[in-house]
Amino acid sequence: MILCDEKNLLFTLQTKNTTYQLKADRHGILLHTYYGPKIAGGDLSYLIRGMDRGCSPNPPEAGLDRTYSLDTLPQEYSSCGVGDFRLPSIELELPSGSRSASLRYRGFERRPGKYALEGLPAFRGGEEAAETLVITLEDTAAQVAVELYYGVFEEEDLITRAVRVINQGGEPLRLTRCASVCLDFLRSDLDLITFDGCHMMERCPDRAPLRSGVQGVGSVRGAASHQHNPFVVLCGHSASEDYGLCYGAMLLYSGSFEALAERSQYDNARLVMGLNPYHFRWTLQSGESFTAPEAAMVCSPCGLGQMSRQYHRAIRHHLIDAPCAGERRPVLINNWEATYFNFDADKLVDIAKTAAPLGIELFVMDDGWFGQRNDDNRGLGDWWVNTAKLPGGLEALVPRLKELGMTFGIWIEPEMVNEDSDLYRAHPDWALTIPRRSPTRCRNQLVLDFSRADVRDYVYAQISAVLSSADVRYVKWDMNRSLTDVYSAALPPERQGEVYHRYVLGVYDMLRRLRADYPHILVEGCAGGGGRFEGGMLYYTPQIWCSDNTDAIDRLKIQYGTSFCYPVSTMGAHVSVVPNEENGRVTPMETRGVVAMAGTFGYEMDLSKCTEEEKAIIRRQTAFFKEHYELIQRGDYYRLTSPFDHGPYTAWEHVSPDQSEALVSVVSGSVWAAQSFLTLPVKGLDPRRTYRVNDDLTLPGDVLMAAGIPLPQFPGDYTACQFYLKAE
Ligand code: GLA
Repeated sequence: MILCDEKNLLFTLQTKNTTYQLKADRHGILLHTYYGPKIAGGDLSYLIRGMDRGCSPNPPEAGLDRTYSLDTLPQEYSSCGVGDFRLPSIELELPSGSRSASLRYRGFERRPGKYALEGLPAFRGGEEAAETLVITLEDTAAQVAVELYYGVFEEEDLITRAVRVINQGGEPLRLTRCASVCLDFLRSDLDLITFDGCHMMERCPDRAPLRSGVQGVGSVRGAASHQHNPFVVLCGHSASEDYGLCYGAMLLYSGSFEALAERSQYDNARLVMGLNPYHFRWTLQSGESFTAPEAAMVCSPCGLGQMSRQYHRAIRHHLIDAPCAGERRPVLINNWEATYFNFDADKLVDIAKTAAPLGIELFVMDDGWFGQRNDDNRGLGDWWVNTAKLPGGLEALVPRLKELGMTFGIWIEPEMVNEDSDLYRAHPDWALTIPRRSPTRCRNQLVLDFSRADVRDYVYAQISAVLSSADVRYVKWDMNRSLTDVYSAALPPERQGEVYHRYVLGVYDMLRRLRADYPHILVEGCAGGGGRFEGGMLYYTPQIWCSDNTDAIDRLKIQYGTSFCYPVSTMGAHVSVVPNEENGRVTPMETRGVVAMAGTFGYEMDLSKCTEEEKAIIRRQTAFFKEHYELIQRGDYYRLTSPFDHGPYTAWEHVSPDQSEALVSVVSGSVWAAQSFLTLPVKGLDPRRTYRVNDDLTLPGDVLMAAGIPLPQFPGDYTACQFYLKAE
């Protein structure tokens, strides 16, 4: 619910469990007055006090009042160059050459339903799910209007924000920073949690108390990156899974981003998050506007677990595209780790022949099916089927898979090109390259200039011809290198600062077309594993390959970190061979299955080489997964332990929304002799109901949550067990 007190210019956004409030004060400054546990109402601006602080300047409206300073006030969208020395939200380069922005309140509008953003991903919500508030600010000297958008999802405790900047003057101006969210707190005794790592070890939580000055994470790689995720948390020092005030901030953006937190001189905290100002300089002609990507905030008054579950629900219900939202996604087999580039149609059909009777439903043909792509040095850009490998093309292959009862999916990497390709030989200027410099290679490939419509149209036509040539039900959209040499041959020098962002808009345009033309195709995102795992991609691709690291034990960490924001149903996870191809570890097949089914679930190995015993396990796993699909994929997710704590085991739990059933999964670390008797208290059950545990124990919910499930002795390294709980 959005409450607008027009007399006092007080705006109160109410969700089920939280309240967010802002107020335009007597000088037109839009103040942030409160974000926290739900309160009935009232004007929280009494919390904001002023005094004559040395070195904190006063805006002209304050006259001789030295107690009023932008430098100390909590604000909704901080200005720049006019007296607030903390993190700015916006920076303008005005026709005069001045770099400043000074914003004052002008008006508001309340609308039923959730706003949408043209060309950009955003949470979706009809009138029954969400409301919109638009507050307009103005900088009269700069002749700029700034619209702040708020989307309020009551049920999910989610508040979204977006920003539109409009040049109302007669001359062009430049935008050099345009954050999506600025969140000011009157306190700074908070921890910042970021999700960091590298290729093969993405999204490991890193938590530290805010210290003085600016700290944070970002990416200048043109994608969210393996190294940092555009999702951060601020929480009380003692906040844990089940206790404490936590704030999540998630950016729906697939390009370079920045998330900075600042602890100021008087112990206030500010979080500013948005696209990265690195190399960003956007020209706004008279009358033109720029829209910054959406950010989505969740406040949980009772711990990190609740914050995650609110995000999971919001993402499942309001971000994931409708056709995929309700359907059961197929259990898949992907041939990448099974064959790499070395396959032909018969080999693929061989794998499929073993897979189909094991309950696997979708066959995904990975990299290597097109052009001269026989290794990863050539072929990208030539999107036609290599008929030496696949005689008769997809038209011949797909019916063979269908006969086995399997649907078909395909890998593409549309944003890239190899120099050794027909595409590059014909159009070298279509790659991002800096004039007079030799291009920087990565995985021996270059990045196509997706800021250009002609480049996109060409690539789309090629790929679409392949997708239309057979019954394709799944596409894995990969992106295997970061952006460098970011220069577009199609833009004049003064607009080169737009290329990073135009590239992302180009990617969104392609994905939008793909989703519109092939609504029945499930698209999985991927970027060298989990290098672009964020809300922007999830809007178009309901699942994303979590990591190129398929080792079950490393995956415990990667999937644990990922779960702080993103639901199980978005995390691409596969069972692969042992010793694991990435780290050589040997884990039991059961364990690999338990870990992969805490994601979208599939296999990525040559099943034709499996023993009969392994096949029997796989058959059991796929049947178990399908039986409990709703519970696992749409239930509430509880992290029971952290794999980073070096405890004897890692455990997590899925609970159905009506608390009638739960599934607890446990994976041990390396085994030791003389094990003690361990018990695992579970979460989220109805304390008053009685649950049957794996058909051999019946206990009340309160007992299971307080005392726990007795765990068996672990029979070896990295073993797994699961407990299915059913309310009687
Ligand atoms: C990336 C992906 C892998 C695989 C290869 C193919 O690394 O993450 O899953 O598709 O590309 O080249």
